[in-house]
Amino acid sequence: MCGIVGYIGNNEKKEILLDGLQELEYRGYDSAGIAIIENKQLKNFKAVGRLKNLREKTKDYSSEGFGVSIGHTRWATHGKPTELNAHPHMGAYSFVVHNGIIENYQALKKELQAEGAKFLSQTDTETIVHLFEKNHKINNNPNNTPWKAFQDTIKRLEGAYATLLITEADEQSIYFAKNGSPMLIGFKDNDIYFASSDTPIIGKATEVYYLEDGEFGYAHNGKLHLFNVDGQKKFTKQALATDKAMAQKDGYRFFMEKEIYEQSTVMNDTMMGRVLDGKIDFEELDPTLFDNISNIKICACGTSYHSALASSYLFERLAKIPCQIEIASEFRYKEPLLRDDTLFITISQSGETADTLEALKMAKRAGLKSLSICNVDNSSIVRESDAAVLTRAGIEKGVASTKAFATQTMVLWMLAIYVAQAKKTISKEVLEIELLAMRQTPKALLVKEELHSKMTRLSKRYLHGHGFFFIGRDLFFPLALEGALKLKEISYLHAEGYPSGEMKHGPIALADAELFTIALMPKSLHYDKIKSNVEELCARDVTLLAISPEAFDLADDFVQTTYSSHPMLEFFEMMVVTQLLALEISVRLGNDVDMPRNLAKSVTVE
Ligand code: AGP
Repeated sequence: MCGIVGYIGNNEKKEILLDGLQELEYRGYDSAGIAIIENKQLKNFKAVGRLKNLREKTKDYSSEGFGVSIGHTRWATHGKPTELNAHPHMGAYSFVVHNGIIENYQALKKELQAEGAKFLSQTDTETIVHLFEKNHKINNNPNNTPWKAFQDTIKRLEGAYATLLITEADEQSIYFAKNGSPMLIGFKDNDIYFASSDTPIIGKATEVYYLEDGEFGYAHNGKLHLFNVDGQKKFTKQALATDKAMAQKDGYRFFMEKEIYEQSTVMNDTMMGRVLDGKIDFEELDPTLFDNISNIKICACGTSYHSALASSYLFERLAKIPCQIEIASEFRYKEPLLRDDTLFITISQSGETADTLEALKMAKRAGLKSLSICNVDNSSIVRESDAAVLTRAGIEKGVASTKAFATQTMVLWMLAIYVAQAKKTISKEVLEIELLAMRQTPKALLVKEELHSKMTRLSKRYLHGHGFFFIGRDLFFPLALEGALKLKEISYLHAEGYPSGEMKHGPIALADAELFTIALMPKSLHYDKIKSNVEELCARDVTLLAISPEAFDLADDFVQTTYSSHPMLEFFEMMVVTQLLALEISVRLGNDVDMPRNLAKSVTVE
């Protein structure tokens, strides 16, 4: 959960590193640092807080001529966000940056300290640089090159890492290794770039190689030397994307706001070539993927978990296939019983979430077929899966996921129909209704000006209280969970999602005027049931914001949505309402909407 960049070449290095780190700030932003070696001069800068602090600190520095350089933006795992704990970490003559967790760092640290190494930080990462220098010094053996020392170092590391190391012992190389955390390498002429994702190098490099787990090596003299456990490896570069425009704010105040507005248009991309006349098709899927499959298990985290939960209603209802949903971090250690007639689906915006990736590896080891639904092509989860369907949401920068959720839900809805077609559990008439509703989804997702200003006005009444309950039934229960997650992520107010029928089994004890209840009351699905649940709450004097096509007298506030006979259209429209509510509450509270405290966009640690 951090971002790393590296560059080796003749261009000015400080700006390349800082620009790259800017693109990765969403991965962690509690401190940042860079280290550069050129003309036998080693320079290192670190700053706590956002990247702008590091920019300020380095404003009078610029690097000239050939050199090697590494940079890092951190999301603290071991040790507080202080300058000493910020990367790059320093030995006597080398620097290292790292993303991931070195699980055996305590044993390594003890060993190194016993031999005299002086640790400055509380991080696991610092062990790498001391271990490297120890290995390099051993025996004063002329064969004991920095490269050999680096290989010996990597062999001792357990856990997840993507790491870069530079050393005065070899001023012309960058050493790298990847295992479990993302890293790619960009190329242009003799220049070589490293980064945790491709945005930092778009516009700089023209070609890219996505490292696989277990690969390591060094870049030297415009050449990449790549190895894995079997020795030196040939590799094929591919063309690097050129469009970074989608990642800019386009005049919106926040990336999250822009991403809420984009949902309507990206949904067309999600459906393109898939929602066809009379059927759903995924040309990226081999239809035999579903042969001998009579069960679906979906694993994900956070928002992706919520889209999975919503889809379980669709898989069972439309495709008549049992479908279980698991939180990836729970799944990993529950010693799950896996049957080989199960299709294992993982859902992830980033494709790098450590828990989801590990769950996928477990399922693969158990011999299950795997499918990932992901927003990032070539991400670790996509590469690990037997098959993948991309959500095509475009780069999502707001830490609070919006368009990723919408597109995941759409892909899962399409997939439920796809399986229903294969299993012949859907009639022609129902299929037509589903396809029609899908085509109407972009309209349901349009953000109307009146709605947005209404949410801005309403938000001022919801800045205090002792908590929020988002309630819904059926498909609208996962949406309630997601609405509550959005609100807590960016407002820091306490919010819970609940199935409305469950309130009387305990949570209703909290009900009073300071308990804000956001009720999702679609007309197309169990309206009367949820209505009576909401009435029970109103009798206990909760403050109610009702979201429904049908006016509701008891509501303190009411947002009218469009009636549709298809629940998914009501689902998507209500989703937008909850997203705008969270956004506007966060704005009024003066919070950082795009980079809320304590969070990171991509959670690459357990
Ligand atoms: C969403 O708003 C969250 N920031 C978070 O829950 C996220 O959905 C979760 O960490 C999973 O991420 P992924 O989709 O990239 O795997």
